[in-house]
Amino acid sequence: MSSLPPTALPAYPTFDARAASPWQGQDILSVKQFSREDLAYVFRVAHEMRNLVLRIGSFDLCRGKILANLFYEPSTRTSSSFAAAMERLGGSVISINEVRYSSVAKGESLPDTVRTLESYADLVVLRHPQQGSVALAAKYARKPVINAGDGVGEHPTQALLDLFTIVEEKGEVDGLNVTMLGDLRFGRTVHSLARLLSMYDVRLRLVAPKILPMPAEILDELREAGVTVTEHHSLDEVLGDTDVLYATRVQKERFDDPAEYESVRGSYVITPETMSRAPQDMILMHPFPRVGEIAMEVDDDPRAAYFRQIEYGLYVRMALVAMVLGRA
Ligand code: CP
Repeated sequence: MSSLPPTALPAYPTFDARAASPWQGQDILSVKQFSREDLAYVFRVAHEMRNLVLRIGSFDLCRGKILANLFYEPSTRTSSSFAAAMERLGGSVISINEVRYSSVAKGESLPDTVRTLESYADLVVLRHPQQGSVALAAKYARKPVINAGDGVGEHPTQALLDLFTIVEEKGEVDGLNVTMLGDLRFGRTVHSLARLLSMYDVRLRLVAPKILPMPAEILDELREAGVTVTEHHSLDEVLGDTDVLYATRVQKERFDDPAEYESVRGSYVITPETMSRAPQDMILMHPFPRVGEIAMEVDDDPRAAYFRQIEYGLYVRMALVAMVLGRA
């Protein structure tokens, strides 16, 4: 079923399989929880998950366990990949992907909803439009809660799968020139990924419209971590030596003023012509959904890694679910 190229195991360190999982019972709320050693562990488990899925499809690592998927905002990839991850691990899923058909529509609070779901499930995956809301829910919950995106805050599992994509496709992260393009103000995936990349020796180029820059708080964190960061408005300034180009959607739903959104919609569109000026070994990533940032004519370019990135997400989420349930 895989669209991924067969790869040898990258140089992930080995771990003592008899040791207790330090992630058992833990919430996953922010990328700030992860050290480089933790990341190597997640990626090794994710790589093994990929091998197992390719060999046997589904297996019984989490048989008898139940995951509750609770989404207060739309999702295709995060919601369905967590569901697929749990199914492939042999567990079951309760899905509330449309909260207006749940008791949320009657005014039920987030803490009450989460405490209800954890009465039935072993793990809650939560997406919510308010920054900090997933951390709040986790305070009330006794079972692990995974942040599937909290407003303009973080999307840690997306950042983990993004970094896993880079490791699997480029072999290593240190030494890379990474260019982030588009809505860096509201795009929570770039906030989380930038924080993860700050643990590596990368040069980060931030290309955004004037009104959508990376938040100052994150820029400060990056610079304090010693990352070389430069800001640009034109992709042409950095395209020629970019190793990883990470394009993002302008987050229409975060704008109060529709005219402001219209003023930046379509600021950057990657076409075959753009790719003709990019390095031959560059990879092009996008968290999806895309709404015009990458022309479909680019999809057949081997450097277009975004559909492979989506598949890597399944394996990372299988790893995370197994880890917090104490099965990895
Ligand atoms: N990348 C991502 O979070 O996609 P969804 O909104 O479809 O989950």
